[in-house]
Amino acid sequence: MNLLLYGAPGSGKGTQANMLRSHFGIPHIATGDMLRAEIAADTELGRQAQPILAAGKYVSDEIMIGIVRHRLGEPDCVPGFIMDGFPRTVPQAEALDDLMAELGKRFDRVIYLKVPVEELLRRLSGRLVCPTCQRTYPPGTASCQADASSLVQREDDRPAAVRPRIEIYLEKTVPVLDHYRIGGLVSEIDGRGTIEEISRQVLAAANGRVVKKQTA
Ligand code: AP5
Ligand code: MG
Repeated sequence: MNLLLYGAPGSGKGTQANMLRSHFGIPHIATGDMLRAEIAADTELGRQAQPILAAGKYVSDEIMIGIVRHRLGEPDCVPGFIMDGFPRTVPQAEALDDLMAELGKRFDRVIYLKVPVEELLRRLSGRLVCPTCQRTYPPGTASCQADASSLVQREDDRPAAVRPRIEIYLEKTVPVLDHYRIGGLVSEIDGRGTIEEISRQVLAAANGRVVKKQTA
């Protein structure tokens, strides 16, 4: 099962990827998490990426394609994976097509979590993250349910970076959706509602069923 989660910053990709990882037992490949791990480890790449993330801009296609190429070649990806945060530009999408062809793989589904901008701004300004495992939580959560770490605010969830992230998404990442729509792979899900309700629809889409909203 190879799944691609697509959506704006704050649309719930990481939240739903955690559910899918537990459900299918396949790795969650989140390029943002990978970059934040490099920053935390103070590597050369992390030092280059830190000011870019803090400003809400994109790391270069060349670097990101290299990171994903390396990650998809690892043995835990053989049974499948959940991609989150990549591709974010049309050149990244084209490079991923080539890479998937080289690996003899294809995406089973692209799951688009559609959330209006006002809701994205509300979620991002209140989000808390675990500095140890990177799970995300809504405002008011005290500690990480997985490892009990104290939660923190992500540097790029500060007001100065949130707007630029949404703007660059609208400019560079929205065209990526058309790339996958042409292939008929996209399941569009209204990302508003409880996390559990969205999870039910995401799982239905991943399993190739028609996505229907539950009526009360
Ligand atoms: P990345 O980490 O990928 O960030 P993002 O795309 O901005 O997305 P987020 O992680 O902010 O949101 P999410 O959709 O995962 O939402 P979440 O589940 O947390 O990338 C960070 C940066 O890295 C980029 O800006 C860029 O600089 C760089 N980068 C990464 N990949 C790159 C690439 N390919 N090319 C170039 N640069 C790259 O949910 C958000 C909040 O909402 C949480 O608090 C959550 O609890 C809550 N929530 C979730 N679902 C619901 C719901 N249904 N109802 C109410 N609240 C909800
Ligand atoms: Mg995320």
